[in-house]
Formats: sequence, structure tokens, C-alpha cells
Amino acid sequence: MPRILPLTAESLAVAGQEIRAGRLVAFPTETVYGLGGDATNGSAIAAIFEAKGRPRFNPLIVHLPDVGAARAMGRFNEMAELLAARFWPGPLTLVVPRRPEAGLSDLVSAGLGTVALRVPAHEGARALLLAAERPLAAPSANRSGRVSPTTAQHVADELGDAVALILDGGSCPVGVESTVVDVSGDTPLLLRPGGVPLEDIEAALGRSVPVAGVGDAIRAPGMLESHYAPGLPLRLEANHANPGEALLGFGPAHEATLNLSETGDLREAAANLFAHLRALDRPGFTGIAVMPIPEAGLGRAINDRLRRAAAPRGQPA
Ligand code: TXA
Ligand code: MG
Repeated sequence: MPRILPLTAESLAVAGQEIRAGRLVAFPTETVYGLGGDATNGSAIAAIFEAKGRPRFNPLIVHLPDVGAARAMGRFNEMAELLAARFWPGPLTLVVPRRPEAGLSDLVSAGLGTVALRVPAHEGARALLLAAERPLAAPSANRSGRVSPTTAQHVADELGDAVALILDGGSCPVGVESTVVDVSGDTPLLLRPGGVPLEDIEAALGRSVPVAGVGDAIRAPGMLESHYAPGLPLRLEANHANPGEALLGFGPAHEATLNLSETGDLREAAANLFAHLRALDRPGFTGIAVMPIPEAGLGRAINDRLRRAAAPRGQPA
């Protein structure tokens, strides 16, 4: 069973070390318990997906200690500034254009050009952010398809040894996830209802905020189907490149243009997936041939993404 420790200066120092070493720490927030990892470390993010048993890579929320740290991760327009000033710290997540130079792993936002940011109010969460000295990617600390945990014991029951340490901050006061609002464009969009009522967001912005629906697929990944896809055609289960193609390798492959993991490590492959696809997606090639990835563990999520990226454009994959 994982270690469950009360929130103390000592447990926070240990938790900060675990995060910097690329391991996962579950921690309380005012909404639900989060499964936290260093948002700048692709392998830590891959470990989050592995622990949750998620069959696909949904973009995750990046937690920061204050609005200044959040502005360093993404670009804030006037709406983002207004909502941050009114509701942070608190149960609100803002989707904004990401700053590529901020050093966040590509996997954290599933290869998208936006990133979801939140400054939590819970003192345990804030203390961990300060102790870790890293932005923390943290989905709810449950296995995929299960309800979100609101006590440390729920987390232990769900995740077991996949998590190095659980910080016990008692039960979460809000008990539902944060409200997610996309303010990356000119019009705001509610992506997920949550701890901050929609009416309060509309009052703060002085305008009505539409709720994401089927025409909003591109802006609402996770809820709906649409994600980053490369411009070049993808050919899966390839053992070599045809003339003009780049070869995205997995396992030992001397002729690979880039390799997801030479040792066949799925966590490393997940961490490299989006960055490698982007790097190969350029006019010098006619297409990207991708070597076979085993359909097990994180391989399922990698293959899910590759299959959707390979599907004919203009139709849902
Ligand atoms: O209350 C919460 O938000 C909890 C605590 C731990 O902070 N976290 C949480 O994370 O619920 P998660 O990963 O379970 O939910 C993230 C939500 C998903 O609906 C996801 O699709 C959306 O945020 N999201 C994340 N990044 C996005 C992006 N770049 N664009 C659109 N939606 C995004
Ligand atoms: Mg969740």
C-alpha cells in the first residue's frame, strides 16, 4: 500500500523530492484529490496516464501557486485576467494558449496549442506546489471511469502502489471538480461545469458564456472527439519507410528518423509521442510511417492517438 502521510513540513518536503524525482504524489485540493506529477517531465506525465489506466491521452490541468506562475505557462487575454482575479485561488480552470517556451511536456496538453491552468485554494495543494518548485499536472486521483476521490483513503483504494505518496488533508470541501472555461479565443466557452457556478462566471465577464456542444469539438478535447493531428498522412504498423516517408521508430531500429523509445519503454514512448510527431510533420517528408506499438498498458493510449491521427480527415475517428 502507498504511504499516507498527514500534511506536515516533513511530509511536504518528502513529497517535493518525489515530484522532482519524477514520481507521483496524490494531494488534496478544495475540489477532489489530484494525482500530481511534474508537468515539465514527460515521463512523469506518462506515469500519470499509466496509473489512471486511461485508454487515451486527455489533456491534463496544470496547477500553479499563483497567477504570476500561471501567466508564465500561458497567454492571458482580458477575460483570463478578469476570471483569474475574481476566482483564483479556487475551483476554476482556464484554458489559454500555451507558451511553448515554458517547458511544459507536450503530453500534458495532448499536443494541443492550449493549456489548462488552475491555482488551487487548498492550503495543502498550495504548500505542495511551493515544496515541489514545479508546475503540477494533476487529474483527479481515480482510475479511469471511476468517480473522483475526496478522501486520502479513496485514493489508496483506487491507485494503490502506482502513487509514491498520498498527502492526507482530510475530505475535500467542494467535492466536485473545477469549472473549466476556455478563454483561448475571443469568445469564452464552458467546457466542464464544476465548483464555480456558470452564473458567477457570466456575471464576472458581463456576458453570457455558451456551453460546449457538438460544434465545439476542437476546443473541447476529452469531452468530445478532436485532437492535434499532424498534417502529413500517417501509416501505422510499418516496418520500414517508403521513399519520401519519415520513420517513427519503436524499439531497436537503426533506420528510424526519430525513435519513440529505442529500448521499447512505453512510458518513454508516451513522453516523446507528440514532440516527435510535430518534429516529423514537415514538408521535407511525404508521410510518417510508424512502427508497431504493443497494444498493452500505455501502448493502448499511444495507439488510440496514432489511429485517430491516421484516420481520414474531416470525419471523426
Ligand atoms: O478539480 C479539478 O479540476 C481536479 C483537481 C485535481 O484539480 N482535476 C481534474 O483534472 O479534474 P482532470 O484531468 O480529471 O480534468 C481535466 C479537464 C478535462 O475535462 C479536460 O478535457 C480539460 O480539463 N482540459 C485540459 N486541458 C485542456 C485543453 N488544453 N483544452 C480543453 N480542455 C482541456
Ligand atoms: Mg477526472
